[in-house]
Amino acid sequence: TGLFTYDPGFGATASCKSAITYIDGDQGVLLYRGYPIDQLAEKSSFTEVSYLLMNGELPSAAELAKFEDEVTHHTMMHESLKAFLQGFRHDAHPMAMLAASVASMSAFYHDTLDLQDPEQRRLAAIRLIAKMPTLAAAAYRYSIGHPIRYPRNSLGYTERFLHMMFEVPSEELELSPVIAKAMDLLFILHADHEQNASTSTVRLVGSTGANPYASVAAGITALWGPAHGGANEAVLKQLAEIGDAKNVAKAVERAKDKNDPFRLMGFGHRVYKNFDPRAKIIREMTHKVLGELGVNDPLLDVAMKLEEFALKDDYFVERKLYPNVDFYSGIIYKALKIPTEMFTVLFAIGRTPGWVSHWLEQQVDPDARIGRPRQIYTGSPKRDYAKA
Ligand code: CMC
Repeated sequence: TGLFTYDPGFGATASCKSAITYIDGDQGVLLYRGYPIDQLAEKSSFTEVSYLLMNGELPSAAELAKFEDEVTHHTMMHESLKAFLQGFRHDAHPMAMLAASVASMSAFYHDTLDLQDPEQRRLAAIRLIAKMPTLAAAAYRYSIGHPIRYPRNSLGYTERFLHMMFEVPSEELELSPVIAKAMDLLFILHADHEQNASTSTVRLVGSTGANPYASVAAGITALWGPAHGGANEAVLKQLAEIGDAKNVAKAVERAKDKNDPFRLMGFGHRVYKNFDPRAKIIREMTHKVLGELGVNDPLLDVAMKLEEFALKDDYFVERKLYPNVDFYSGIIYKALKIPTEMFTVLFAIGRTPGWVSHWLEQQVDPDARIGRPRQIYTGSPKRDYAKA
């Protein structure tokens, strides 16, 4: 005992077998159930991708319609859950509210959750996918003092979310198809990414036999950190601080200085040592969406300049630090008029099918057992108690 492999950050440890998502970080390849992300981004929808991640195969038209019906059936939140959300201070961060309200789902839906029953496990997964946008929009509406909207079930998944976010009582909301399409695509791009920190957290919590609501709530809190999903919010704040394309060179110099903790947010990735394929798609989409919406955002110039500088700078080239998914998503979210503190919440909505698919996979994995890493002890040897 005591002789364990030392692998801080688990960079060289496979914690499970999984058939859901494949990444080749050197080539910049990302496949969901074998399908390339760019094909899914072009041809699929977020609900179809959710079905694919959960079930392993693309649905037939009838299967997809049934799945969408089921999700739609579970979009409402319990009125007491709404009251719970309304107990927060008005200035609570929506990620804090989302994590707490998802954790609270285990108090609302425990009576129909028998973890041994595959149908009940599936139902819990559907509930999480269905309610996440309702809870997310409610957190936002509460934070700005607007009435919480109920899900309008005549709409599709992403339109319904946008409706809950932006509808005001006095007028009918006209949803721009450009915005709805862009949002759906962003959800697809975020839907899964194998054993990232939040998904590994869901699995670690799930490995103890904890319920899926508690497991996913833990995933949400892991996602919140700026090294993970919180990076999209951090990117936008950083771009705003840099402020002007002429300040970019200075920011790049700071990021290279090892005595300065400053990092370029939205650059680098544990697995991708090449262009993040999701960033490539979002980059193209950013230009298209900003063009279609007629948005002229000076922060985009800053972002472009930053990318240009970083891609040719030896420091970034040697370390293979490319822009990642969070680098561009913030700019699009901003163009779509999503407030900055909601960016990571959107990531959470998108990642939910991934989290629940991993949780479901773990439940039937014959190799699964409680996650329990070891350590290398560096503390004091045994000593006898004596008053200091
Ligand atoms: N700016 C400046 N230097 C960097 C950056 C950066 N953004 N990222 C990595 N480095 C340097 C780092 O200092 C180290 O240099 P050296 O070898 O000289 O000590 C080298 O590159 C390797 O970095 P690392 O920290 O060992 O890599 P990691 O795999 O532990 O961390 C990361 C990956 C994503 C946490 C890190 O690149 C980072 O902090 N990036 C900024 C935050 C960010 O954009 N996060 C989003 C990740 S993608 C999607 C998601 O998960 O949400």
